Amino acid sequence: MGRLTGKVALVTGGNSGIGLASAKRFVDEGAFVFIAGRRRTELDKAAAAIGHDVRALQGDVSKLDDLDQIFAAVQAEKGHLDVLFANAGLGSLAPLGAITEAQFDLTFNVNVKGTLFTVQKALPLMNAGASIILTGSTTGSKGTPAFSVYSATKAAIRNFARSWALDLKDSGIRRLASATIVRSTWGRAAASARRPSTIQGEATKPIGRAGVLIISLLIACARRRTRGALQPPLSPSTRAEEPRRATPICRTVVAFPFFVS
Ligand SMILES: NC(=O)c1ccc[n+]([C@@H]2O[C@H](COP(=O)([O-])OP(=O)(O)OC[C@H]3O[C@@H](n4cnc5c(N)ncnc54)[C@H](OP(=O)(O)O)[C@@H]3O)[C@@H](O)[C@H]2O)c1
Repeated sequence: MGRLTGKVALVTGGNSGIGLASAKRFVDEGAFVFIAGRRRTELDKAAAAIGHDVRALQGDVSKLDDLDQIFAAVQAEKGHLDVLFANAGLGSLAPLGAITEAQFDLTFNVNVKGTLFTVQKALPLMNAGASIILTGSTTGSKGTPAFSVYSATKAAIRNFARSWALDLKDSGIRRLASATIVRSTWGRAAASARRPSTIQGEATKPIGRAGVLIISLLIACARRRTRGALQPPLSPSTRAEEPRRATPICRTVVAFPFFVS
């Protein structure tokens, strides 16, 4: 039996890269997974690659009407969500002096507005014990040449994770993580304009197997349960077990390298 057997997950940006790898692994672990993205062809290819227990939903996370349609489809087919992986994101390189309004609007609309409203609109579908995972980045905490706009969006994600953990503390949704990731390719948009000497991932390229680690951690985040404020107090016999079950692994920013060849 998989570690996510019976769980229902939504992975935005699930037709490519980190989102697709995570969706595949979630299904391997027994979950039913909705994947969302803008490109129908890529969604269909991703669903075919995953093979079973997957539904592809087309939509742009920066458009609230699209989000409504995505969550209406989840509601109609499964009625609830156990795991939300708000992962859709993009970025492009431009040094200060060359940043355009269009680049700023696109990056903030997808990464910040999209993440915010993805999570907010998912809340009515999520019960106590559900998990929310956001995709952050090491760039959210450090300076990176020509990447300030993207980095600022990831700094926002980092704060979303911390502030929302407080907003949700009485909801029973206790698993809120910000996964911070370094990968050898920087998404499709940035990769097309990449200058190796300025790519942080090149300078800090970790060993190859670390990618497995983050997917495992995502599953741990998706799966672990702690007791929400609405749940009854523990009996003395189960209290001894609680420290292990309640390890706050998902309440902090998780930072480790991710490398995909
Ligand atoms: N690669 C890295 O090294 C790295 C490092 C740190 C953080 N990250 C973050 O990891 C996440 C995934 O990136 P990736 O590297 O896997 O890149 P990727 O392969 O380019 O995947 C990005 C995904 O987001 C989706 N997406 C983009 N804009 C969207 C929108 N408006 N609405 C819905 N879906 C949208 C894309 O699908 P469509 O184009 O079909 O919409 C795609 O599935 C992003 O949040 C990125 O910022 C990546």
